[in-house]
Amino acid sequence: MMQAQLHCLCLLILYLTTGYSQQGKFSGPLEPKTFSIFEGQEASQVIFQFKASPPAVTFKLTGETDGIFQIQPDGLLYHNRALDRETRAVHKLQVSALDAQGAIVEGPVPITIEVKDINDNRPTFLQKKYEGSVRQNSRPGKPFMYVNATDLDDPATPNGQLIYEIVIQLPKINNIMYFQINNKTGAISLTLEGSRALDPSKNVNYNLVVSVKDMGGQNENSFSDTTSVDIMVKENIWKAPELVEIVENSTEPHPIKITQVQWNEPGAQYFLVDKEKLPRFPFSIDQEGGIYVTQPLDREEKDSYVFYAVAKDEVGQLLSFPLEIRVKVKDINDNPPTCPSAVTVFEVQENENIGSNIGTFTAHDDDEENTANSVLVYRIVDQIPTFPKEGLFLVQTYSGVFQLAEQSLKKRDTPQYNLTVEVADKDFKTLCHVQIHVIDINDQIPIFEKSDYGNLTLAEDTVVGSTILTIQATDADEPFTGSSKILYRIIQGDSDRRLGVDTDPQTNAGYVIIKKPLDFETTAIHDIVFQAENPEPLVSGVNYNANSSAKFRLIVTDVNEVPKFSEHVYQAKVSEDAAIGTKVGNVTARDPENLDISYSLRDDGRGWLKIDPVTGEISTVARLDREAERVYRVQVVATEIGGSSLSSIASFHLTLLDVNDNPPRLAKDNSGLFLCHPLQTTGSVIFEATDDDQQSFRGPQFEFSLGNEILQKNWQVSKINGTHAKLSTRHTNFEERVYNVPIHISDGGRPPLTGIVSLPVTFCKCVEGSCFRPAGHQPGMPTVGMAVGILLTTLLVIGIILAVVFIRIKKNEGKDNVESAQASEAQPLKN
Ligand SMILES: *[C@@H]1O[C@H](CO)[C@@H](O)[C@H](O)[C@H]1NC(C)=O
Ligand SMILES: *[C@@H]1O[C@H](CO)[C@@H](O)[C@H](O)[C@H]1NC(C)=O
Ligand SMILES: *[C@@H]1O[C@H](CO)[C@@H](O)[C@H](O)[C@H]1NC(C)=O
Ligand SMILES: *[C@@H]1O[C@H](CO)[C@@H](O)[C@H](O)[C@H]1NC(C)=O
Ligand SMILES: *[C@@H]1O[C@H](CO)[C@@H](O)[C@H](O)[C@H]1NC(C)=O
Ligand SMILES: *[C@@H]1O[C@H](CO)[C@@H](O)[C@H](O)[C@H]1NC(C)=O
Ligand SMILES: *[C@@H]1O[C@H](CO)[C@@H](O)[C@H](O)[C@H]1NC(C)=O
Ligand SMILES: *[C@@H]1O[C@H](CO)[C@@H](O)[C@H](O)[C@H]1NC(C)=O
Repeated sequence: MMQAQLHCLCLLILYLTTGYSQQGKFSGPLEPKTFSIFEGQEASQVIFQFKASPPAVTFKLTGETDGIFQIQPDGLLYHNRALDRETRAVHKLQVSALDAQGAIVEGPVPITIEVKDINDNRPTFLQKKYEGSVRQNSRPGKPFMYVNATDLDDPATPNGQLIYEIVIQLPKINNIMYFQINNKTGAISLTLEGSRALDPSKNVNYNLVVSVKDMGGQNENSFSDTTSVDIMVKENIWKAPELVEIVENSTEPHPIKITQVQWNEPGAQYFLVDKEKLPRFPFSIDQEGGIYVTQPLDREEKDSYVFYAVAKDEVGQLLSFPLEIRVKVKDINDNPPTCPSAVTVFEVQENENIGSNIGTFTAHDDDEENTANSVLVYRIVDQIPTFPKEGLFLVQTYSGVFQLAEQSLKKRDTPQYNLTVEVADKDFKTLCHVQIHVIDINDQIPIFEKSDYGNLTLAEDTVVGSTILTIQATDADEPFTGSSKILYRIIQGDSDRRLGVDTDPQTNAGYVIIKKPLDFETTAIHDIVFQAENPEPLVSGVNYNANSSAKFRLIVTDVNEVPKFSEHVYQAKVSEDAAIGTKVGNVTARDPENLDISYSLRDDGRGWLKIDPVTGEISTVARLDREAERVYRVQVVATEIGGSSLSSIASFHLTLLDVNDNPPRLAKDNSGLFLCHPLQTTGSVIFEATDDDQQSFRGPQFEFSLGNEILQKNWQVSKINGTHAKLSTRHTNFEERVYNVPIHISDGGRPPLTGIVSLPVTFCKCVEGSCFRPAGHQPGMPTVGMAVGILLTTLLVIGIILAVVFIRIKKNEGKDNVESAQASEAQPLKN
């Protein structure tokens, strides 16, 4: 009791000093309220002062007070001990107001006390030690075990937010972490490096020290705990199998199991992936990881396969990397040799010696090269006819080279032999057909039908490709063999190779054709000698003689051709200030008939040039001007003297090089420049200059100055940029008239030229900013402006009179005429 009163006393003091009497945050009428109070705070804390209105005289507190919350009769609510959120996070209280008799007059009203968390509890691992295991090569980031800690503090506040961390990994090589932990869930998984490097054959056991911190690990004042994690690394049985060899063209029932893969745990789903995108994929996998070939393979179609086996978990996630499955298809001898063609033909000459090479026979086998399956063996099994004897030919067993075996052949005995050749590999035999043609020996030379084909006259412009002559020789050797075919050669009279001879394979006729243009001027007469020859060499003792050659005279006639200029376009350059008579270029033309040539000019529009008719030299006859023609183009004509006076034309382009020969000038008519009279302040006008000479890429760079020094009292000129300048008055005291201000404009040329221009500036009365020039008389001397005004007025009056007369005359001719009359009325004004 004594204690309670003491409490009251200090509460009262507190209450008075902290202004609890005031209505509002800390005091008020009895109504539902919620208060938040930190746990662990000191005892005897005032919570609220309830105010009662009569007849209420006292208050009563009920509910989850836990003996901690109390209310004074005067309505002061407080707690007498520290709160603990972990014991009770929310206290539901009721406060009632009682009258003097103790009967409830107000309430009970719900009062809620929320206990706010402070970080007064440490995180604790559920186990002091954890054990787990992981497969070698497990997928990085896939959890294989968890650690778990709890903290009694409010998980909605940082106080209860836990962060896990691996603080030690043992062993740790090269400072590489093989394990990682999810800092929120405590899930432990492999890092990428761990997935690659862990190997139970090197090290099986790892130990981790894992810490947990509250306050999100961010606060110095956070509590922490640690635990020890032992991890065993287990061997990975998910490994690529060895290279699989499958014998092609298998006759066993398919599918045939060829290899096996297996995931580390049961329950995985297996799939094959064909990255070669085959039109048909002859492999499959079952749910135990057995891999099968589903049909016979053909090495000759495809001799190896690479594909991948993957394992997925029940939700279709890859459990690990794909395994490469390599299959090699082994050859069997399942292809017979094949003949190079239905019939192979060789030729052999009558007189050839025993042992002569007749030809090489090569068959083919699709089976794997350089194995017994494709090594071929040749044998002659039949010869038709067997006349004069059997075994006339032999074939080398492995190379297929045919030779003459017994004796030289006679065509009249047998012109053709049909041989059957057996080609064998290890298991197969194929029969191929070979024909041997016995051909005549080349003991006859080609003989021309005549030795002289006479004279032929052709114009030099005869078209290339024309056949001009047919020649003929004959050969008595066997037709359609290399012994009788004839090739014609021109051995004399055509060193420029303007002619060629093509042979008709059926008749051996030779067609003489123009291959390149004839040219009278080079060679007028060709004394041609043809030689007829066989592609096959002649037998020894027989030689080509005069009967194998023939002659022919080709006479080329002249066609008068136009003179030819050495170029189509002649280019020359000259400075525009070249003195009259300067030689600017020359042209040359040659007449194919060697006639003399006379030169002349055409289209010399400006009359600047002349040409020497004999030498073709071109020179100037007038001053040139680049500003008129940058490139002066004329035509030069070359005409034969005598003959049929043929002529031809070329162009002559003369580029004129600029010299600074034009002084700057005003760019336009500047008569419109004016200043308003009288001047209120100094005024200025802007003008522009130009220059006809060629300008640098940055444009003209003119300098401006006043024409004489006296003017400088009244005017000043200042440059704006390369082309524009400003003329300003120095004072306001000007007359109402036109001032012609002389201005020097200098170009920056070499040498520089200066133009002196007169810039007219009119001082006039202004109306609304434009120059007004009254027509009426002004006292005093008329100024130039006034004179112009008077003149204009006079002309206007005359114009009106004329117009009136005009309208009278034409008055019946309609509106158009009235308009033209008005136009003519305006005419004098313009003048
Ligand atoms: C950690 O332990 C708590 C309390 O036992 C439990 O509620 C929670 O699910 C556990 N977390 C994990 C990831 O095991
Ligand atoms: C927790 O992990 C996440 C993602 O790994 C990371 O962004 C975050 O910074 C980590 N928190 C702490 C406190 O380390
Ligand atoms: C398979 O072999 C047989 C003879 O053993 C052959 O006839 C067949 O053409 C072969 N098939 C393939 C596809 O090579
Ligand atoms: C050789 O065979 C061809 C057909 O391939 C036939 O026309 C010819 O008469 C045969 N020659 C001999 C000498 O049997
Ligand atoms: C060919 O012309 C020459 C003169 O060029 C002449 O001597 C010769 O008789 C002519 N031959 C024939 C076959 O006309
Ligand atoms: C050319 O052939 C004829 C008859 O065919 C012959 O008499 C003459 O001797 C041959 N000339 C030469 C040079 O062999
Ligand atoms: C005239 O032509 C000759 C030879 O073609 C040449 O060397 C000479 O320079 C030319 N003269 C002129 C002025 O072009
Ligand atoms: C030079 O100045 C004039 C007047 O300010 C302007 O109109 C013109 O564009 C300028 N020219 C250049 C090249 O800047």
